[in-house]
Amino acid sequence: MRPRLQVALDSTDLATAFGPLNKVADIVDVIEVGTILIISEGLRAVREIRALYPSATILADVRIAEAGALIARQCFEAGASWVSCVAGASLTTIEQVVKVASEFNAEVQVELGEHYSRETSASWRLVGVQHVIVHRSRDAEVAGILAWGPHDLDRVAELAEMGFTVTVTGGITASDLDVFVGSPVGVVIAGRTIVGADNPRRAALELRSAIERIWP
Ligand code: 5RP
Ligand code: MG
Repeated sequence: MRPRLQVALDSTDLATAFGPLNKVADIVDVIEVGTILIISEGLRAVREIRALYPSATILADVRIAEAGALIARQCFEAGASWVSCVAGASLTTIEQVVKVASEFNAEVQVELGEHYSRETSASWRLVGVQHVIVHRSRDAEVAGILAWGPHDLDRVAELAEMGFTVTVTGGITASDLDVFVGSPVGVVIAGRTIVGADNPRRAALELRSAIERIWP
């Protein structure tokens, strides 16, 4: 199946996020209210984007580590369709997030950290987590770790085999996507590549056509 395209909005204010969002909302499949935007603006960002795009799939990238039920409920009440948890959250926390998500017909993502464990990932799937995120971190980018490599592809394949929808993210550009040929990626996230472009709509269209070329 062809991956969905998700735009990540990580600006520090909502007004700035709306500029590119309004230009690409009809091109993308998922709108991410990014961690940085939620920290800056709170869940008002989710509420306002939901009000403008009532039928969109919206991820609140809140990276839950603790207090899972409480945080997840607030996100879903604000209009999120998906929430994210960090891999370091306990299984109890993740299970509570999944339980609240099921009340809202919503879904849960876990973002992998540096220390990947097949067993831990399998335990998330067992408690009902639908998505995992294979993430090249901004901090790794700053440290000069730039390329997606064979280990990422192996991880994507293994996680998809377990039944997860696998998201890839971290400074992705249209040309980066060639490395994923034949890989069972479920969602491609692009933040800065779209939001930071002179022409966000053209950047989103380029990503979409790269996706269509790579996953025909
Ligand atoms: C950073 C994030 C970003 O939302 C994600 O990496 C997508 O943004 P970009 O394409 O700019 O890296 O969660 O931690
Ligand atoms: Mg994010």
